[in-house]
Amino acid sequence: MKTSAPIQIAASILAADFARLGEQATEAEAAGVDALHIDVMDGRFVSNITVGPAVVAALRRVTGLPLVTHLMILEPERFIAHFASSGSNSILVHQETCPHLHRTIQQIKSAGARAGVVLNPATPAACLEDILDDIDSVLVMTVDPGFGGQAFIPGTVRKIARIRQMLDERRSSATLQVDGGISAETAPLVVAAGASVLVAGSSIFGAGTRVDQALAKLRKSIEA
Ligand code: DX5
Ligand code: ZN
Repeated sequence: MKTSAPIQIAASILAADFARLGEQATEAEAAGVDALHIDVMDGRFVSNITVGPAVVAALRRVTGLPLVTHLMILEPERFIAHFASSGSNSILVHQETCPHLHRTIQQIKSAGARAGVVLNPATPAACLEDILDDIDSVLVMTVDPGFGGQAFIPGTVRKIARIRQMLDERRSSATLQVDGGISAETAPLVVAAGASVLVAGSSIFGAGTRVDQALAKLRKSIEA
């Protein structure tokens, strides 16, 4: 079921021009995005390598936006303290990388950040059953992680709706984020299923328009 709170949009810097990352972050802030989403990849859990805590610290110096760090890395517990002290407000770990998920979530909270769990497209909603009360957000991957610009997987919509139902049953205020292939075409589908935060890279930084125009197009698509 659609949420009544305003839908938030987090801009994924993966699609930004890394040669002018600071400017892109301030453009996104001026345009009114609600958060910056930072994709951390290790070349092991996913087939790509991106950025580490130094980039989070650099962004922290140029923006007041919440910095949400999405860890697509094996053994994320080794890096949680580094990301938190670099300025990550929120740290999201994959269920698939955390054999001791409860402990990892407590570690994120003890480091002073908000904690979230990410599910790959093939990971079932049911695996959240015994961790949902402990987390601040769930992120549903709507593509297989590793790269920006991939096509949205329609089969994930049913899982988003199922997780919305699980959160509502618990009267949980945790955010329900979606990540991958989110555009003016797909945003209405995930919002109708109950997503409360849209993570978007290509449709914000890679749209071939100004960031504010791209954001306006995305917001307009979910107005109704
Ligand atoms: C993919 C990342 C996403 C990515 C989304 O592994 O987690 O955050 O940046 O990019 P788009 O919006 O281009 O699909
Ligand atoms: Zn991401």
